[in-house]
Amino acid sequence: MKNILENRRILIGLSGGIACYKSCELVSCLVRSGAEVRVVMTGNAARFVGPVTLQALSGNPVRSDIFSPIDPGGIEHVSLAEFAEVFVISPATADCLAKLAHGIADDLLSTTYLACDCPVLAVPAMNTVMYEHPATQANLAVLEARGVHLMLPESGRLACGTEGVGRLPGFERIVERIEHLLCGSDSLAGLTVLVSAGPTREALDPVRYLTNASSGKMGFAVAASASRMGAAKVNLVTGPCSLPTPHGVSRHDVVSADQMYKAVSRLLPSADLLVMAAAVSDFTPLRPARKKMKKGGSDSLTLELKKTRDILAYCSSNRKPGAVVVGFALETENDLDNAAVKLRKKKLDYIVVNNALEPGSGPGSDTNRVTVLGSDGTRLELPVLTKRQVAEKLLELIAGKRDK
Ligand code: CTP
Repeated sequence: MKNILENRRILIGLSGGIACYKSCELVSCLVRSGAEVRVVMTGNAARFVGPVTLQALSGNPVRSDIFSPIDPGGIEHVSLAEFAEVFVISPATADCLAKLAHGIADDLLSTTYLACDCPVLAVPAMNTVMYEHPATQANLAVLEARGVHLMLPESGRLACGTEGVGRLPGFERIVERIEHLLCGSDSLAGLTVLVSAGPTREALDPVRYLTNASSGKMGFAVAASASRMGAAKVNLVTGPCSLPTPHGVSRHDVVSADQMYKAVSRLLPSADLLVMAAAVSDFTPLRPARKKMKKGGSDSLTLELKKTRDILAYCSSNRKPGAVVVGFALETENDLDNAAVKLRKKKLDYIVVNNALEPGSGPGSDTNRVTVLGSDGTRLELPVLTKRQVAEKLLELIAGKRDK
């Protein structure tokens, strides 16, 4: 079987509790399994186990002081967050959970948590009474509702001499959970997924173009999630954007709406699932100038534009039998009504609606608040989530319906 941990980038966070010594075994096991492990620890954690121990086990310098970064030019919490494919906080003390739940960022571990977009696994360990305290339980509930993965502590003899719930699970169990988070699911197993992303550029002349504010983040997140969910092939057709290609995704760079249409229609026959997240220009200059346009003496300029092909509508009518087609609708008013019209007119299976004027939504933002409408009457209203979480929820919905 393929080793899931091989070359995977795992960030381990230790907050200050006696169970810190068990996280040494965890780090050692992950490194032996081929993972690249970095460690961030709080000042209190460093009282329980020495950073030198974790440095030797992980093979990397241990980070703990926000004001003494290892890379003097870097912003440590951001680079750690970017490094991590999964962030495992083990042990997570009552104090650490409280900070995470309330967004307090007063040390490197808690600041890194806020900067992380990857799955986070928190493994609480503490005295039973502290664990069962309503404050701790409320903090755990908040974190769980936000999508933090939690491992429940085990029962047994605790360091304080009592018996009860609060022990850190054995490192093998934690490793198993990390593997699960990293390998994702197999809910799209065997499927070929085609995703469009980013803006298009419509040339006015050799140096000027019409475009829009799309960053490509939503489409890239869908492609990354499809790959994590076991899709056999993920083709990502993207307009100009500087995002890195997600792991396991085949990228096809295009510039104009016409190029996007050609690339998508070439990949269409193999696609079982199409998610068209690109912000395709609806119009393109009728006669782009071959040489740079001169402003001349006039005070105004009228551009003549022609409609581009609707790639989504084309895909919907020419899809392979059984393929599922998903469109996006970015609205500024009457969101759901407008989207419902697009859903029907383009004969889509689903449409993902968001409002560009809402805070935390729209082009460029790292988050989005969307509603998914389905031709079968589905209506899934999601809270403000990161685009990665939106992508996961969308694909889970589609995969779940396919199973039925
Ligand atoms: N789309 C496409 N090809 C186009 C235009 C849009 O594939 N030429 C896709 C987008 O990727 C998105 C959906 O269609 O999935 C957006 O629908 P559309 O009706 O084009 O939305 P708007 O362009 O926002 O339309 P309107 O301006 O009428 O609201």
